[in-house]
Parts: sequence; structure tokens; C-alpha cells
Amino acid sequence: MNILILGSGGREHALAWAVSQNPKTDKLIVAPGNAGIAQVAECATLDILDGAAVVAFCEEQAIDFVIVGPEAPLAAGVADALRESGILTFGPSAAAARLEASKGFTKEICDACGAPTAAWARFTEAEPAKTYIREKGAPIVVKADGLAAGKGVIVAMTEAEALAAIDEMFGGSFGAAGAEVVIEEFMAGEEASFFVLTDGEACLPVGSAQDHKRVGDGDTGPNTGGMGAYSPAPVLTDAIAKQALDEIVLPTVREMARRGTPYQGVLYAGLMIENGRARLVEYNVRFGDPECQVLMMRLGAQALDLMLACAEGRLREAKVNWADDHALTVVMAAQGYPGDYAKGSQIRGLEELPEDSRHMVFHAGTAARDGQIIATGGRVLNVTARGMTLAEAQAEAYAMVDRIDWPGGFCRRDIGWRALP
Ligand code: AMP
Ligand code: GLY
Repeated sequence: MNILILGSGGREHALAWAVSQNPKTDKLIVAPGNAGIAQVAECATLDILDGAAVVAFCEEQAIDFVIVGPEAPLAAGVADALRESGILTFGPSAAAARLEASKGFTKEICDACGAPTAAWARFTEAEPAKTYIREKGAPIVVKADGLAAGKGVIVAMTEAEALAAIDEMFGGSFGAAGAEVVIEEFMAGEEASFFVLTDGEACLPVGSAQDHKRVGDGDTGPNTGGMGAYSPAPVLTDAIAKQALDEIVLPTVREMARRGTPYQGVLYAGLMIENGRARLVEYNVRFGDPECQVLMMRLGAQALDLMLACAEGRLREAKVNWADDHALTVVMAAQGYPGDYAKGSQIRGLEELPEDSRHMVFHAGTAARDGQIIATGGRVLNVTARGMTLAEAQAEAYAMVDRIDWPGGFCRRDIGWRALP
């Protein structure tokens, strides 16, 4: 079959890598793609936020199945446009994508279905929000309601910080995303990500992962989009995964169906685990980036069969063939990230690295120029390996990192530390 993947990051490279290995795949196009993706698929220029343009492209290219990578096209209704045109699509409708696009909406759903999460309140004006913060005290969490590219959450350790966050959000620094603010109880514990495919009724867990959000070793420095990840997450034991499925994910999926907006695609539950119980931090309506890279490394070609079963409403009959393995990815970023960084520095040595079912460098922000690979983003490479133990996966990944010649880049040296002795 002919398959189109929307997106241009390491997540989409990992999806394309897994899909390209499945014998069902005849033609694979990724729009817009990047220099690494171009090695496993055809890349095409396309406005992926424009539903009509994506539909027209699919008709032109005889596309049978579309996988939507990032949240923005989902929130913009691209999956709706595709399904209305009869094109098989993996990814939720705009109405269901509100589980990521509105924090207040997610909290309402949690309340409606009894899913455990932090206590919360929502505000559209600064003064009542400040009164609430003074009443509750710190630590406390302030969130812009809408999509803010991962920057709309302030975990305030003091009351003053929380009050300042309110001024900032209602002052317009998050644009429309900050017109409404959600204030939440601070949850202590350890975070893990839980990935579940759902066709609107049946739910199938496809793995757990943990990422490293801070830029520096030992989880220090500013927040980033994620500096590395590994799967599985040992903190998400089978018992906690079952509790999260039974008390959080399944009730959410049932509530979304009950409202006439069934959720179809991957539901990424960010969980906070404390005293053997998970509570929901947030949902994302897509695979995590870089979590997808370690999930795809473990699932391989069967990822396509699972996503197809999901899109076709046949998930009840699907199952995951698990290997007893571990995967780990190290993000290499441009010097300066997550602040200002230079673009265009050259990366050497990639062609000498192994590329097989246990080793892969996924590209997140690269382009090919005059036969050279250059960095074009903040997060640039995801150096990924699989092993029988997490320690083995970590050693293999860093052995690859050490063979990459890129003076303009850096990485954390401790990815996986929480799960290693
Ligand atoms: P979110 O965008 O909702 O995932 O928030 C980003 C990060 O903020 C999460 O991954 C957590 O580390 C942290 N966070 C969000 N909400 C809470 C909360 N209620 N308690 C503690 N930490 C939180
Ligand atoms: N790595 C976090 C995310 O994809 O949202």
C-alpha cells in the first residue's frame, strides 16, 4: 500500500523507518521530511496544516493510509478532512485532539470519568486566579490552557513565581493559548509516559518510556523538548500500567465516545507515579518525541500493522509481539539549545555508523547540502540503540555518539540514569 506520514522530526523518521520495513509498504512518502528521512522514504513539500491540500496530495499520489505525526495538524482538523474524503488515517479528529489542545478540557474529562489527576481550577481573569494561588499556597502549577509548544507550564515552587506566571500569561506572552489559565495542585513523584493505541473502543498498550526534559546532566538547567528517552520505563510496573489503563485511559476513551467524539490514534498519557499509583499529568494526542524513537526501535515493522488495525477499527484482534528488550536514545542538539543556537554546522561520520535493527541515528533537524549533512534545528539527531538490558542499549548508543564528528553539537551523557544502578 501507499503510505503518507506527516511531519519532519525524529519521531517521523522513526515512524518511517519502522513502516518502511513492513512488506505491506509499497510507496512511502513523508511530508515535509528531512535529510535522514530521505534515506528511507520519498520527501514531499506540502502544507501539512491545510487539510484540503493534504487530501488533494493523497488523491494525486494514490495514498491508501496517512499517519499524522505532530499535534498541530490534528488540532487543525487534518485527520477529519482525510477521513471525510474516505482516506484511511491514523490520528484523532480535531474534537478528540482537544485532549492535548486544551488543558481545561482534559481536566473536565478526568472529572467526568473519575480519572485520578491533580486538583484544579480554571480562570479567565488574573485577580481571581491570584486569590486562588494565595489560598492554596506553593508549590503550585500554572498552565496556559492551549497549545504553547511545551512552554505553557510553570511549576512554581514559590507563591511569587506563581503570581508572576499569572501576570505573564494574562499579559499575552502565550497569545491565545494563555487567554485561559488552569491552576493545579503540585504532584510529587516520578513521571513516566504510557502509550496506548485506541480505535475509539478497544485499547492496546504499545509501550512505556521516560524522557529527560532538562538540558543538563543530573536533570539540571532549563527545560527542553526532551534530551533523551528509554523504553520500557521500569517505574511503570505491570500493576501500575494496569491501574493506569483501567482508571485513566479506558474511562477517558469511553467518555470521549459517549460525547460523540470518539478518540482514534495513539493516546500518550503522561503519568505521575507515587506510592505505587499513577495519576494523570496530561495527555498528548500523538507519539512523544523522542519517546517514539525508542518505541519504534522495539516494535519495528509491526508498528504499521498496529496503526492500521487502529485506523480500521480492528484493534480488538491486534496484539503486540513483545521482545524482552530495551531501547535508549540520546538527543544531540546544537550548542546553545534550548536558547539561541547556530544553524548550518556540518555533521560528519554518520555514514560509517551501523544501521540495523539495533542501531539507528534518527534525524530530527537536518538537511543535505552539497552532499553534506548540516544541522538545521535545535534538537538535531537521535542516536538510538537496542539491547537485552538498558545498560547495553546505553553503552551502544553512546558508542555511536562518540563516533559522530560534530563540534557544533552536544548531548547529555547520563540518559537512562534513573533506571540504572
Ligand atoms: P505538561 O505540559 O502538562 O506535561 O507539563 C509539563 C511538565 O510540567 C510535566 O511533564 C511535569 O514535569 C510538570 N507538571 C505538569 N503538571 C504538574 C503537576 N500538577 N504537578 C507536578 N508537575 C507537573
Ligand atoms: N517528549 C515530550 C513530548 O513529546 O511531548
